[in-house]
Amino acid sequence: MKFFIDTANLAEIEEAHDLGVLDGVTTNPSLMAKEGITGEENVRNHYKAICDIVDNNVSAEVIATDFDNIIKEGKELAKIDDKIVVKVPMIKEGVKAIKWFSSEGIRTNCTLIFSPGQALLAAKAGASYVSPFIGRLDDISTDGLELIDQIVHIYGNYGYETEVLAASVRHTMHLIKCAEIGADVATCPLKVITGLLNHPLTDSGLEKFLADHKKANG
Ligand code: E4P
Repeated sequence: MKFFIDTANLAEIEEAHDLGVLDGVTTNPSLMAKEGITGEENVRNHYKAICDIVDNNVSAEVIATDFDNIIKEGKELAKIDDKIVVKVPMIKEGVKAIKWFSSEGIRTNCTLIFSPGQALLAAKAGASYVSPFIGRLDDISTDGLELIDQIVHIYGNYGYETEVLAASVRHTMHLIKCAEIGADVATCPLKVITGLLNHPLTDSGLEKFLADHKKANG
């Protein structure tokens, strides 16, 4: 399973990368705005800075919503670095653009997936990744993990190469359940990844080992 970090914060990306378990980064316009990154040149430079930290897979989202401008913007984003994956929303123009990017060998991440039908369309168009949003479905009393299960099952039926990138992952149990279901990737905040470290028996066990060592060795 791949772990992506869902942030545009360089310090957090560096911390996750230093842990040695990071496979990529996802951003979106809200996350870029949160870091105060505005203006075309700053945005481009920021994506480049992210690419310089990680080994691969940096999702950069287009703002355009019509085919011609999605293509124009996506081509510019893809030029920044080979690690860029162009993130395109699940809309009609987006599906057409994903098909075009796929024929040009440009990787895409189809975002804002909330139903199995949307995921099927994205796979047929040739998306490299689909991003179903678990937490946002849970927020409206709909089982987000069930959607991951449905998509993994459907893709398995037909051998689609599109990878299931579980997004809007809010806590460690989301991540663990995604791993059980067989999602290819999960993207989440740093605290969800570091949260996997924690177990009280690890803490008390280590404390005892160190105390016993100290007693025996003085
Ligand atoms: C990922 O690509 C999405 O942008 C992200 O996971 C959304 O998460 P949120 O619902 O916590 O904002």
